[in-house]
Amino acid sequence: MTAEISMRGITKRFPGVLADDNVDFEVETGEIHALMGENGAGKSILMSQLAGVYQPDEGEIYIRGEKVHFSSPQGAIDAGIGMVFQSFKLFPSLTIAENVVFRNEPTKYGLIDRKAANERVREIADRYGLSLDPTARVSSVPVGVLQRVEIVKALYRDARVLILDEPTAVLTPQETENLFDVLRALKADGRTIILITHKLNEVMAISDRVTVLRDGRNVAQLVTADSSPAEITRHMTGRDVDLSTPPPALAPGEIILDVDRVTVQDSPGDRPNVDNASLQVRAGEVVGIAGVAGNGQVELAEAIIGMRSTASGSVTLKGNNLSKNSIAQRRDAGIAYVPEDRHGVGSAGTATAVDNLALGHHRAAPILQRGLLSRGAMLEHAQRLIKRFGVKIASPATPVGTLSGGNLQKVVVARELDYGSPLLIAEQPTRGVDVGAIESIHRELCEYRDGGGALLLISAELSEIMSLSSRILVMFEGRIAAELPKEEATEALLGLYMAGHKPEPQHRPGALANGDAR
Ligand SMILES: Nc1ncnc2c1ncn2[C@@H]1O[C@H](COP(=O)(O)OP(=O)(O)O)[C@@H](O)[C@H]1O
Ligand SMILES: [Mg+2]
Repeated sequence: MTAEISMRGITKRFPGVLADDNVDFEVETGEIHALMGENGAGKSILMSQLAGVYQPDEGEIYIRGEKVHFSSPQGAIDAGIGMVFQSFKLFPSLTIAENVVFRNEPTKYGLIDRKAANERVREIADRYGLSLDPTARVSSVPVGVLQRVEIVKALYRDARVLILDEPTAVLTPQETENLFDVLRALKADGRTIILITHKLNEVMAISDRVTVLRDGRNVAQLVTADSSPAEITRHMTGRDVDLSTPPPALAPGEIILDVDRVTVQDSPGDRPNVDNASLQVRAGEVVGIAGVAGNGQVELAEAIIGMRSTASGSVTLKGNNLSKNSIAQRRDAGIAYVPEDRHGVGSAGTATAVDNLALGHHRAAPILQRGLLSRGAMLEHAQRLIKRFGVKIASPATPVGTLSGGNLQKVVVARELDYGSPLLIAEQPTRGVDVGAIESIHRELCEYRDGGGALLLISAELSEIMSLSSRILVMFEGRIAAELPKEEATEALLGLYMAGHKPEPQHRPGALANGDAR
């Protein structure tokens, strides 16, 4: 049988980086093929060559036995290859249908036939269970819908092969389930799916076969049903990874963070983003906040760090009321922060890893010496953190904007943990991060906790919340809706509270006596 896709001996170099190293990659017609590997393994670059974005330095690409050469993305589209990239390429001011048909508009009497466009888009969407409104403006729809628009766009252009680059990184568990239903429907239709992901549970659930890249090389091709998460992880990392839950916390100490009846509002009269929320985090304790994105978690974190003003309530750190203090003052007082938006808020993309890692450390020795920044100390500091966190980067002098998402995340987490602040607020600390790095970030977070750090963990990954937290709070519509000790939290129960179900009496906020909460 001829393979749908056969990439042979693909090598792609960038200055100082061998992204893909003599890779063979084969995909059969009608399968769901998972392409796995740690951050920087070369997955996106390999698929970008199949999609005509880059041209290989060496190697050949065959589609159903026929050799192809794509000098542009259009060439790949014409050959039936559609790719949904990690960052979507849509025009916000146009409607969904206008985006889908862009450059392939149906016409009538020489004019764009909007009605036909809307109908065609609706037809494709309905056929595969992609619910969306063709007439909605792209600027007004959430990220999960944008992804569906990209899929419909590829199908509108008749993609036989659909490549999705880490599509679930931006989705809730429910949206992920929906996406997988769509992928199954596409497969049933005879289409071929290549799914880039590093989430083992997803690969086990949906893929027929798996290819694993490591350091730009193809290190394994497996039949999913004959493999296991442990085996795949070993191929990805080149070592045995401990997938078990981390050790539990010791008894918590003094109260580090005290958030008392905080309300956050965009403007007076608006529905509050955060509604009268109270919580405490103690030394040596991890408090997890679960919730569907958009229920006030980010606003609450921003109110604690001072990026948002509070309409009422107070934020106290180790007994000092910081409610009126600036972000810089709060950071100096001992709040470290790993923001969800690691590109915009968390890092300066054009600055080097050396500079990014020195941020916030530049006001003290050894980096500040006699009033001057010591480049030597900065470099040493950067090298130490790059090594400890296993950041894959060409050199410490490389701008961090070129790093893959997971590697950039490691830079931000490394810097924030290295402050040794009494409180760390971590938003989605392992989003987009590969399994080996998840293990190391989790281990570092547990070490921080065991060293007496107070960790407020905000995560969309319920498994992460459940494995790390001593106590779990659920946010719903801006309120702390429920509070559960780790032992009573199940994914099903958290899911119910996240969807707004009234909690059982023992899970109402404040029901846990302060202090013996574990
Ligand atoms: N445009 C680029 N210029 C230079 N290096 C790049 C570029 N794009 C990716 N790289 C590097 O190539 C390697 C592979 O990247 P990529 O394919 O994006 O990895 P991933 O497996 O995480 O998708 C990484 O080391 C990355 O930093
Ligand atoms: Mg990638």
